[in-house]
Amino acid sequence: MGRSWGGWLLPVGLLQLLGPAGACPCRDPRLCRPVTGPAGSEVFVFDVGKETWKSYDWSKITTVAAFGKYDPELMCYAHSKGSRIVLKGDVPLQEIVDPAKRAAWISQQVDLAKKQYMDGINIDIEQEVNETSPEYYALTELVKETTDAFHREIAGSQVTFDVAWSPACIDKRCYNYTGIAEACDFLFVMSYDEQSQIWTDCIAKANAPYLQTLAGYEEYIAMGIDPKKLVMGVPWYGYDYVCQNLSVDHVCSLPKVPFRGAPCSDAAGSQVPYAAIMKQVNSSLSGLLWNEVQKAPFYEYKDSVGQFHQVWFDDPQSISLKAAYVKSRGLRGIGMWNGNSLDYSREAAAEQQTQAMWQALTP
Ligand SMILES: *[C@@H]1O[C@H](CO)[C@@H](O)[C@H](O)[C@H]1NC(C)=O
Ligand SMILES: *[C@@H]1O[C@H](CO)[C@@H](O)[C@H](O)[C@H]1NC(C)=O
Ligand SMILES: *[C@@H]1O[C@H](CO)[C@@H](O)[C@H](O)[C@H]1NC(C)=O
Ligand SMILES: *[C@@H]1O[C@H](CO)[C@@H](O)[C@H](O)[C@H]1NC(C)=O
Repeated sequence: MGRSWGGWLLPVGLLQLLGPAGACPCRDPRLCRPVTGPAGSEVFVFDVGKETWKSYDWSKITTVAAFGKYDPELMCYAHSKGSRIVLKGDVPLQEIVDPAKRAAWISQQVDLAKKQYMDGINIDIEQEVNETSPEYYALTELVKETTDAFHREIAGSQVTFDVAWSPACIDKRCYNYTGIAEACDFLFVMSYDEQSQIWTDCIAKANAPYLQTLAGYEEYIAMGIDPKKLVMGVPWYGYDYVCQNLSVDHVCSLPKVPFRGAPCSDAAGSQVPYAAIMKQVNSSLSGLLWNEVQKAPFYEYKDSVGQFHQVWFDDPQSISLKAAYVKSRGLRGIGMWNGNSLDYSREAAAEQQTQAMWQALTP
């Protein structure tokens, strides 16, 4: 009990077998060097695997967070474009309260990054943390020590941390946001899933409403976090809700699905990638609609068993409004969850939509 080191430590024998740094898998060995370009404006892309990265707009990408299986070809390609590529970092927080275990986890991440020729790590801890708990302090230390270790061991490396759309203990994630921002290169603000906790009317709403999204950044900045430490994350996916009742003025009432203390949540819906949404919207019951208050597109359809659905998402129109704020407020940049969500087929309508989504990031 309580003595487990968890599943994240490889057996010592295996670590030795893999060696400190394997042979460079790239055709040009120079592509295994870390990317040390200047830390300017960011376009930060989460990649969840599969081959679609070959069709990304690499003229924009500054960093790829590799959340899929390790793909050496993606690493070589990113480096050939001068883009950083970083590991995903996650660990159960109870396991890093002990400083020795924390140090072991960190050195394992640095070793892995060296072995795979990665340029840093994106720490994605989405666990519940109580304010002033042992985990609360350990998390800030984890970020600080991880950043120190990466910066020391890998030239030009980048350490970033993912936070919710607002610092107001969203989903019971009460972190030391100012301490964490100070401790790493920048925060990736996940400005989506903003209906994860619905405290008022239990109805379908936008995944990332415009004003709610901006209010989150203003809260981070009001805490004293430099706008240059914030990268805006936008969703390349939406939510499909089954309506209990759908009114003529487009109010879709939801069943009560509680989440982390809130009575109602977007957990009542299911996430749909932009590619699937664009295949459905034109033939839907309502066609493409726009909500002027939330500044987001949506549509409605009836499924094969006669149930009404409402689908909320983001498109070039809603994203470019938010991207304009990134520019005017002087944030570090923009990024998305996730790069794989678009239709990268060579079909004409798909190609045009996909290009427009990449373009919307940097108006
Ligand atoms: C946070 O505190 C509450 C109330 O003391 C407790 O029930 C809960 O388990 C704690 N959560 C975590 C993740 O420690
Ligand atoms: C947050 O972290 C900073 C830097 O480590 C520290 O100075 C500050 O006291 C912490 N704040 C809280 C509320 O723990
Ligand atoms: C559904 O909406 C209609 C139109 O707004 C309303 O008349 C009806 O009472 C609602 N039904 C339920 C079960 O809420
Ligand atoms: C849907 O309609 C729009 C506007 O009429 C059009 O530009 C687009 O190509 C259509 N999408 C598909 C997948 O046919």
